[in-house]
Amino acid sequence: MPGAIHAEGLVKTFGDVRALDGVDLDVPEGTVLGLLGPNGAGKTTAVRVLTTLLQPDSGRAVVAGIDVLGHPTEVRRRIGLSGQFAAVDEYLTGRENLQMVGQLYQLKAKAAKERAGELLERFGLADAADRTAKTYSGGMRRRLDLAAALVVSPPVMFMDEPTTGLDPRNRQALWEVIKELVAGGTTLLLTTQYLEEADHLAHDICVVDQGRVIARGTSDQLKAQTGGERVEVVVHEPGMITGARDVLARYGLAGTGRGEVSVEDHTRKLTVPVTGGAKLLAEVIRDLDAVGVEIDDIGLRRPTLDDVFISLTGHAAEREAEENGESARPGGGDRTHTKDVAK
Ligand SMILES: Nc1ncnc2c1ncn2[C@@H]1O[C@H](COP(=O)(O)OP(=O)(O)O)[C@@H](O)[C@H]1O
Ligand SMILES: [Mg+2]
Repeated sequence: MPGAIHAEGLVKTFGDVRALDGVDLDVPEGTVLGLLGPNGAGKTTAVRVLTTLLQPDSGRAVVAGIDVLGHPTEVRRRIGLSGQFAAVDEYLTGRENLQMVGQLYQLKAKAAKERAGELLERFGLADAADRTAKTYSGGMRRRLDLAAALVVSPPVMFMDEPTTGLDPRNRQALWEVIKELVAGGTTLLLTTQYLEEADHLAHDICVVDQGRVIARGTSDQLKAQTGGERVEVVVHEPGMITGARDVLARYGLAGTGRGEVSVEDHTRKLTVPVTGGAKLLAEVIRDLDAVGVEIDDIGLRRPTLDDVFISLTGHAAEREAEENGESARPGGGDRTHTKDVAK
């Protein structure tokens, strides 16, 4: 498998901290694996081992068809890593930095120039393109570093918390670039603290905590396991509550029955736990319409990483203060939802 990532039994200790405590990973070629976990879970250590920057105490890994411990140089030639290899040169401008990376990877001068211009534009650096990187803020450097990692598309790419510290607009830009990269056949291992991000980008998710994989699956599978996904409907008038409740009861989690629909009379809000995601939402809307229930608002409230974590481990995912001054939390709205849902 020229583009796949495979790891078995990775162990790495630092003193008495078991940063990796027997991690197995499989990322089929052309897919995205989201390594999801709180600070200190072992995500960066895993990325460093897989990208040859760190030797594990035991275990083995094959990246792009090559044994990581046996042939690190060969592995490096086939992978991209945001945040490490592509160090930003302070004394070059943003544009020069990206063009240099392009030339390093043997793009023709014209192609390197075009790619640099495109990436500067996408990451909101066009205005600052001709200033030296030394004058960039923390957030701008981070974006330049990501752009540098994206100049060429290697068969296997690693991104360690690529959007931590990015504002929503730049996060969106990065998500788009990542999707294009994957559509072009790149295999991607991405670490994140945000379920929403893994949700958007990853085919499969591994939840890690204290050096161990504590759950794996698609985002839908993890959420179903967590049981935190809910449909919330606000009906137009109180007389429609009963009709809406009958419809929603049909969509409640299998076997839970009508009792599971909770109603808040004064806000005309009904909530039901579901599985099935956005597709189901369309069906609910259609069914409510068919029985003449008018809705003021409807939405799918998804569990956040916090919900998944609490459900899996019994403790909340702890995060350090965010970096760089740019807001780091995607989907700020989710925070509020969490509180609603957790009750
Ligand atoms: N170079 C190091 N020296 C000592 N401890 C380390 C080192 N790198 C990581 N650790 C520890 O290993 C654990 C996992 O860290 P890390 O892989 O950086 O987690 P994450 O990236 O998920 O936040 C943490 O407890 C961290 O403090
Ligand atoms: Mg880390």
